[in-house]
Amino acid sequence: MKKLDGNLKKNIAVFISGRGSNLKSIVRYSSKKKIIYKVKVIISNKRNAQGLLFAKKQKIKNYYINFTKSKRLGNRVLNILKKNDIKMVCLAGFMKILPAYFIKNYKGKIINIHPSLLPKYKGLNTHARAIKNNEEFSGCTVHYVNNLLDSGKIIIQKKTRITKKDTANSLKQKILKIEHKIYPRTINKVLSNL
Ligand code: GRF
Repeated sequence: MKKLDGNLKKNIAVFISGRGSNLKSIVRYSSKKKIIYKVKVIISNKRNAQGLLFAKKQKIKNYYINFTKSKRLGNRVLNILKKNDIKMVCLAGFMKILPAYFIKNYKGKIINIHPSLLPKYKGLNTHARAIKNNEEFSGCTVHYVNNLLDSGKIIIQKKTRITKKDTANSLKQKILKIEHKIYPRTINKVLSNL
């Protein structure tokens, strides 16, 4: 089976703020056979995000834009997405809440990955909170993005057991591994229905 021609693939944008390990797994997965998406644009709201270095190495168009500051900058992002024919926006460690007008423009086409079994543990420090509450399981969730934090419709969840030995850090690593597996696959699946 031949790889899908780059021109036939659906373009996606990945929004990041930091390390970008999910970004890497999304980009890597896109080069596999039969995968229907291509990471065309990477946007970071942090100038020094590690993920931007990866974007540059991979020669993927990348932008630093602190676009929550003003609607003008938000519109710049929307123009970049339009110009590049972006079909879906994937948040991967993007630490800003998107402005409502932005979400409206990409309604039903923005997804996020969160390191907990939503609706439990929205927001930050998910692993420490799950351990503190003696949860038996934690995991990650891919969900659509709406105007409320980590509250959009759930697409998929994967869980893992929290062992007695787990610390916030070991749990984070365990869940991150799962994230790297499920996020690219879910992106591909969601896009195939768009
Ligand atoms: C991940 O744990 C993701 O679930 C959360 O932010 C973290 C981003 O990590 N939304 P990375 O930048 O992809 O390494």
